[in-house]
Amino acid sequence: MAPLHFFLICCSLLICPQILIQAQQPYIRKWNTNCTIRNASTSVLGYACNGVNRTCQAYLTFRSKPPYNTVVSISNLLNANATQLSQLNSVSENFTFGTGDMVLVPTRCSCLGQFYQANATYVIQSGDTPLLIANDTFEGLSTCHAIQTQRSNLTNDIYTGSRLTVPLRCACPTEKQAAAGVRYLLSYLITWGQYVSSISAIFGTDTGLTLEANELSEQDSNIYPFTTLLVPLSDPPSRSQTIAPPPPPTPPPPPPTTSVNDHKWVYMLVGILGGVALTCAIGFCVFWFCFLKRNKRTPPMVTSASQSFEATEKPGDTKLDVDEDSEFMESLSNIAQSLKVYEFEELKSATQDFSPNCLIKGSVYQGTINGHLVAIKKMHGDVSNEIRLLNTTHHHNLIHLLGVCFSDGHWYLVYEFAVNGPLSDWIYYHTLSRNKFLNWMQRMQISLDVANGLDYLHSYTTPPYVYKNLESSNILLDSDFRAKITNFDLARSAEGQEGQFALTRHIVGTRGYMSPEYLENGLISTKLDVYGFGVLLLEIVSGKHVSDLYEKVNKNLSEVLEDILEEENIDRNEKLTDFIDQRLQGNYPLQLAMSVLRLIDCCLDEDPAARPDMSEVSQCLSRILTTSQARDLSPTISVQGR
Ligand SMILES: *[C@@H]1O[C@H](CO)[C@@H](O)[C@H](O)[C@H]1NC(C)=O
Ligand SMILES: *[C@@H]1O[C@H](CO)[C@@H](O)[C@H](O)[C@H]1NC(C)=O
Ligand SMILES: *[C@@H]1O[C@H](CO)[C@@H](O)[C@H](O)[C@H]1NC(C)=O
Ligand SMILES: *[C@@H]1O[C@H](CO)[C@@H](O)[C@H](O)[C@H]1NC(C)=O
Ligand SMILES: *[C@@H]1O[C@H](CO)[C@@H](O)[C@H](O)[C@H]1NC(C)=O
Ligand SMILES: *[C@@H]1O[C@H](CO)[C@@H](O)[C@H](O)[C@H]1NC(C)=O
Ligand SMILES: *[C@@H]1O[C@H](CO)[C@@H](O)[C@H](O)[C@H]1NC(C)=O
Ligand SMILES: *[C@@H]1O[C@H](CO)[C@@H](O)[C@H](O)[C@H]1NC(C)=O
Repeated sequence: MAPLHFFLICCSLLICPQILIQAQQPYIRKWNTNCTIRNASTSVLGYACNGVNRTCQAYLTFRSKPPYNTVVSISNLLNANATQLSQLNSVSENFTFGTGDMVLVPTRCSCLGQFYQANATYVIQSGDTPLLIANDTFEGLSTCHAIQTQRSNLTNDIYTGSRLTVPLRCACPTEKQAAAGVRYLLSYLITWGQYVSSISAIFGTDTGLTLEANELSEQDSNIYPFTTLLVPLSDPPSRSQTIAPPPPPTPPPPPPTTSVNDHKWVYMLVGILGGVALTCAIGFCVFWFCFLKRNKRTPPMVTSASQSFEATEKPGDTKLDVDEDSEFMESLSNIAQSLKVYEFEELKSATQDFSPNCLIKGSVYQGTINGHLVAIKKMHGDVSNEIRLLNTTHHHNLIHLLGVCFSDGHWYLVYEFAVNGPLSDWIYYHTLSRNKFLNWMQRMQISLDVANGLDYLHSYTTPPYVYKNLESSNILLDSDFRAKITNFDLARSAEGQEGQFALTRHIVGTRGYMSPEYLENGLISTKLDVYGFGVLLLEIVSGKHVSDLYEKVNKNLSEVLEDILEEENIDRNEKLTDFIDQRLQGNYPLQLAMSVLRLIDCCLDEDPAARPDMSEVSQCLSRILTTSQARDLSPTISVQGR
């Protein structure tokens, strides 16, 4: 950590005086979100014409999303030259970008009145508002304020089918920047979990130079998604800079030989396999689809499975009530074909006849079957939900169900064993076992694991599931401190399309982790899990239990972050270090911790629609983890260098 601090101090010494000497362009902050406030001292109307030249070559970034995901459609939207755009991105002119890919856009920037702009022409569609056009279609490359200014001299009506000039945010280098070798300014679209240094790193620009270009400083470097950051460049940007390491949608299981300390190796592997993962996910879908279809068309398999199920049960010494359970057994046999059915005797000998010595907690026992540790959960009632879900989903971050057993009116579910137990044993500061402690990297890895598991449930299963049961005791840790989500009895399929809500009358789940719309109206959507994840992440970084956190707030849990995320705040870092788990003793990158808190803030938004998707959360955490890793290594290198 020491070299990092040194570096930060050096930077701030170098930067601050320069900012005082000459202003460049003010960063927009959150001023773009309220279209009624027009603050002249911000850049909501555009970047001021303070450059050497009134016209210049400039660059924009855009994130590909249908229908704007091809060279031609993006060029048309942003009024760019398609030939140049394809060359800049090293792709052919008929190329289609993947959703979310960063696309470099060349543009001519020129001065109109007080502000620089690049013109785009947009045909208004039904339901459009200036904010929607600026923020959603143009992703923040323009603002509602600037759009309103453009049309103030034309007709005041914004009607479907009419053409509108949308001024895109761009700027030309100032005299001072030109003297420092800057030839172009790139308007970079910020996304979740980024900060000035990570964006600068993408383009090989000095962080100090970028901070200065946006009138930011090390102490005051908060930036927000859907706004632009000016990145000074000495050479045109290139494709190689924009190809981010692909986020792993379904991380492959780590190789069993990986040692806990050998993080770097794991991340390299995840990076490489990340690209493969998408292919795998598609492959999995295809497989799953075929598998389902085949099962529906081949009743013999069902029968044989159901026979084998009964055959296993009948020889047992149990008083199986056939009438009552046969129907259920049959329905279960349809879903549990690939599951192993254990003999009750097997489980008895595995757990020394369910001896209290083997009891883990509640009705969960630890046992040994064929030399392998397993967890055995004794359950009553309808277990079909959990069995169906776990039997049809396969993800490294969801607990693996090995098999089932039915005996004497009880179900026994046999799971893989997670050696390090529940996360709740590890994260709380007041926990009795003080030697149980997780470092920053472990906390971030666990968070990413949980996010990936939930993303999988939300987006990669058919039907999609809402987990509903997020809390620290339902996250188990394996020997490598990788997380496994468990206890799926509350999980339910997310009915309807993503973003739509299902109503429930039965409000269940752990209070404190539950979102306001669920507690008040029983609304269920995948955003319920996003809220719960925000709460869990808050616990993970603060080391405090959610009930303790609630003591400090009136209504909304995100109030605990208000103080720290406050923009004009001199002692923000102090407040941040006070908030983060004291046991970490400052052994974490402050800026990244800030990014995590901002992410939590988004997840805890009272409006479910405003919360990010789990896939966005996991992309964001994946970046935070990679960057933490990079920072984690630097002190080691300097130590070795001595
Ligand atoms: C801007 O758009 C993003 C994504 O489309 C959305 O999450 C965000 O809430 C929008 N911001 C405003 C102020 O509407
Ligand atoms: C925008 O700001 C004005 C003035 O501060 C306020 O009255 C209005 O409610 C705000 N609008 C939104 C959507 O936040
Ligand atoms: C305008 O923005 C500046 C810079 O962010 C801020 O200091 C000032 O208070 C704002 N003025 C109003 C009226 O909101
Ligand atoms: C686009 O750029 C290419 C190469 O720079 C140039 O030859 C062509 O004329 C440009 N097209 C338009 C419409 O400006
Ligand atoms: C895309 O362009 C390349 C080269 O210009 C050409 O070989 C290829 O057939 C085109 N693909 C499509 C789908 O048009
Ligand atoms: C951009 O559009 C405005 C009108 O909306 C026009 O006055 C200006 O000349 C245009 N700029 C360029 C470079 O075409
Ligand atoms: C709109 O008209 C006003 C005067 O009526 C003028 O000062 C301003 O520059 C015009 N804006 C544009 C974008 O043409
Ligand atoms: C300004 O324009 C001149 C002439 O086109 C060019 O040589 C110079 O590099 C430009 N300066 C900057 C900072 O872009």
